[in-house]
Amino acid sequence: MLSGRRVTLIIGGGIAAFKALELIRRLRERGAAVIPVLTRAGAEFVTPLSVSALAGERVFQELFDLNDESEMGHIELSRAADLVVVAPATADLLAKMAQGLANDLASTLLLATDKRALVAPAMNLRMWQHPATRRNVETLRGDGVLFVGPVEGDMACGEYGPGRMAEPPEIVAAVEAALAAGPLAGRHVIVTSGPTHEPIDPVRYIANRSSGAQGTAIARALAALGARVSFITGPAAVAPPEGVAVTRVETAAQMLEAVRAALPADAAIFAAAVADWRVKQVAAGKIKKTRSGDLPEIALAENPDILASVAQMGTGRPALVVGFAAETDDVVENARAKRARKGCDWILANDVSPQSGIMGGAENAVTLITGTGEEGWPRMSKEAVAERLAARIARHLEEQA
Ligand code: CTP
Repeated sequence: MLSGRRVTLIIGGGIAAFKALELIRRLRERGAAVIPVLTRAGAEFVTPLSVSALAGERVFQELFDLNDESEMGHIELSRAADLVVVAPATADLLAKMAQGLANDLASTLLLATDKRALVAPAMNLRMWQHPATRRNVETLRGDGVLFVGPVEGDMACGEYGPGRMAEPPEIVAAVEAALAAGPLAGRHVIVTSGPTHEPIDPVRYIANRSSGAQGTAIARALAALGARVSFITGPAAVAPPEGVAVTRVETAAQMLEAVRAALPADAAIFAAAVADWRVKQVAAGKIKKTRSGDLPEIALAENPDILASVAQMGTGRPALVVGFAAETDDVVENARAKRARKGCDWILANDVSPQSGIMGGAENAVTLITGTGEEGWPRMSKEAVAERLAARIARHLEEQA
């Protein structure tokens, strides 16, 4: 149910706009209040009168409407709801969102809001498949925008394929999922994930076998409990989760910078397998073999320790800092020492020796080391480890509050 929840519904200009009327009705049936915003193009497809009649609210249309500014300014309007839904989201609206344009009421609300956006794209399939739209969708997903649809089907223009707006019941389900109030609602958590790539020259780099699977699962589990997640990932083999803000980096230095930019946070989970060393002097051109057979000398420099620098920061330190300890020998003992050395609150020790099959595998066997003791968790899937950890984090933050 959506009782007590407020949804700003932006109706874009597409033939699917007529379905927005049914969407308003269904959202209200579930108990939500709907604040309707009709774009100029949207008003070519549905009338303001039918929208406001179904919403039981006045419909907002123009940015420079003095009445609106005196009653409720556009900034206030952008914050008035728990979720901003765009249905139908046209190619034009997605492009504006991806670029951060603010040249009408809808785009200004989307740029000014401090709430999540859920978009239901609807457009001709060629427009949906166009590289420009693909780029915009990718950018928006990375910004944490949620998508529902489009679905495959017959289109008003006579073609068949992906591009039809999701049906109203499906959009309502996505709204309910986005508004599910979990124990981490209102919390911001940073998660680092994946390996880092440290360049040697323009074509070669130093890397490691991390797939990013554990960090990705943790980000997904935290988001499922309602957290706002900033996911900072190196070049990982697995795709980042939906509904989280993704920052892609290559090197440890870039990862540190992205973590700093994402602060402040309530908790920070460092699941990335950060390279301990980088190449001191990255060659500007490709290093060539020599006729004499001399081998290149690659001097290394130590990378910044991201976990330690956040764990040891004074003001602005997240209330909970969690690290991983990837070990091949004396796993728990080494991890215990690592926790003390780095100054983090919790550390999850895992055995990454080749015979464990954990690095790059689907399962993990961890020992959680906190300030008060140690807990060996049975071997389980990386998703199960993530869910258990997310639940522990939620409980801990609740106890601290
Ligand atoms: N870590 C980090 N920045 C680094 C190195 C590691 O943030 N430059 C974090 C990892 O994300 C992980 C934890 O520190 O949460 C421990 O990583 P690990 O590779 O096990 O430890 P190292 O610092 O490399 O220590 P050692 O070389 O002694 O194993």
